Amino acid sequence: MDCLIVDHPLAAARLTTMRDEKTGNAGFRAALSDLTQMLIYEALADAPSVEVTINTPMRAHTGSRLATPPLLVPVLRAGLGMVEQAHAMVPEAHVGFVGIARDEETAQPVPYLESLPEDLSGLPVFVLDPMLATGGSMLHTIELLVARNATDITAVCVVAAPEGVAALEKSGHPCRLVVAAVDEGLDEVNYIVPGLGDAGDRQFGPR
Ligand code: PRP
Ligand code: URA
Repeated sequence: MDCLIVDHPLAAARLTTMRDEKTGNAGFRAALSDLTQMLIYEALADAPSVEVTINTPMRAHTGSRLATPPLLVPVLRAGLGMVEQAHAMVPEAHVGFVGIARDEETAQPVPYLESLPEDLSGLPVFVLDPMLATGGSMLHTIELLVARNATDITAVCVVAAPEGVAALEKSGHPCRLVVAAVDEGLDEVNYIVPGLGDAGDRQFGPR
């Protein structure tokens, strides 16, 4: 599986703000939004373009646009904090939604919402979720997408644990990962360390 770690001083600065326990909900959401812009920019670096002819105020000009804008799929709740910025970067993109809450005892994904187009053949899909911990939530999402014929899936995450990366690799699904950092690992309750805590709670408050 391709894994792109977005290593840039501005990305590192926003990630540090997100990791800092002193950062409040509003500051966390702002840093996540900024970082999402950088992740989406990098995730689309090799996206195919098509030529389009437009007129500048001076003369005709052949420019380009994305050949196939990706479907954006935020995983609720935490992925909600990425979708507005991702959509601002790719305004022509369509958006699907998946809702999953991890069971706090077992860390197993408990799905509660699925709103996706029927057929994803030929469509790149960007799954937006800041945290890839055990990988259970991402794998569940990828399985929903593959069942709809998706073959070009990008997981766009902020922090991943090596365990989650390994789970995606082992699954053999057609997926690449774009992430700001791969951390040390998981603790005894499957939180990423050093991580940033609960990405949903840090944006929206406790459930
Ligand atoms: C978090 C996160 C991922 C998941 C990662 O969501 O946003 O979806 O946990 O963990 P995993 O890789 O072990 O599955 P959570 O279930 O806490 O729900 P929330 O977004 O509503 O807070
Ligand atoms: N979900 C989170 O929000 N944070 C973690 O560290 C692991 C799962």
